[in-house]
Amino acid sequence: MSPTYPQTVFLNGRWIPADQATLSVFDRGFMLGDGIYEVIPFYQGKPFLLQAHLNRLHYSLQEVAIMTKLVSWEDIVTEAIQHAGLSNADGAVYMQVSRGTAPRTHFFPEQTEPTVLCYAYPLQLAGFEHKRAKVLVLEDKRWHRCDIKSTSLMGNVLANNEAHHRGYQEALLYRGDSLTEGTHTSSFFVKQAHVYTHPQGPQILPGITRMEVIAICKELGIEVKEEPVPLDRLPTMDELFLTGTTTQVLAIGQVDKENETLFRREEVGPITRTIQDAFKQRLNNL
Ligand SMILES: Cc1ncc(COP(=O)(O)O)c(C=O)c1O
Repeated sequence: MSPTYPQTVFLNGRWIPADQATLSVFDRGFMLGDGIYEVIPFYQGKPFLLQAHLNRLHYSLQEVAIMTKLVSWEDIVTEAIQHAGLSNADGAVYMQVSRGTAPRTHFFPEQTEPTVLCYAYPLQLAGFEHKRAKVLVLEDKRWHRCDIKSTSLMGNVLANNEAHHRGYQEALLYRGDSLTEGTHTSSFFVKQAHVYTHPQGPQILPGITRMEVIAICKELGIEVKEEPVPLDRLPTMDELFLTGTTTQVLAIGQVDKENETLFRREEVGPITRTIQDAFKQRLNNL
């Protein structure tokens, strides 16, 4: 087990030692990827954008009709951070709700008890503004409900694995003519001081960091256009960046497709830098 995993986890209503936390081999999360998850960042022990993350968790659970008993998610998040001994550290809380242990039918079985898992782990979150990502453009072969934060992540895993093995940090995906998002990040494009990002809908996850970056742009008077960016416009862009809970606001330094470089930028662009500064300010004010 990775040393970053905590020693205590929340499983179905109880905090227990991680090495005693066991699941049925018939859990539908394990057999079918029939589950929903959420990742919530915290800075110096304080959750960031907690309510927005919980709203998205509820949205996804509702979309796949997984009914949980009344659970105080806020309390579980706080307890997760405390149990992991991270009250003065940066990290993330992982939550997962599967449909539970039930026959392996393709329809929803009746009267299942969802399996709820939660834990916190430490993460190095400081210093994102000094990094630049190298990304590989790949076709988006995921399903057509990317707005649901499902644990069935094979499409994301295959694309990210291909990028990783070829020396890239992330895959930037396109469906049809348009760029959608990364495998675990939202994507932003800057052209003549205007910021472009794919509109919300079934083709992308409604990224919480994406939403916050849009709010930051509005506050700063930077115009945001929520419209798809055609793949063939990528080389004409001035700046590119990715956002995500663990990625934060990450400038892109290079984009390749097959063996061709479509975009390159040595230093972080001025709009990206302004947004990063405002994002850091929000973290400092937590
Ligand atoms: C496919 C995908 N898009 C975007 C994001 C970024 O979303 P958020 O900012 O809520 O972390 C994620 C995060 O895991 C993701 O998996």
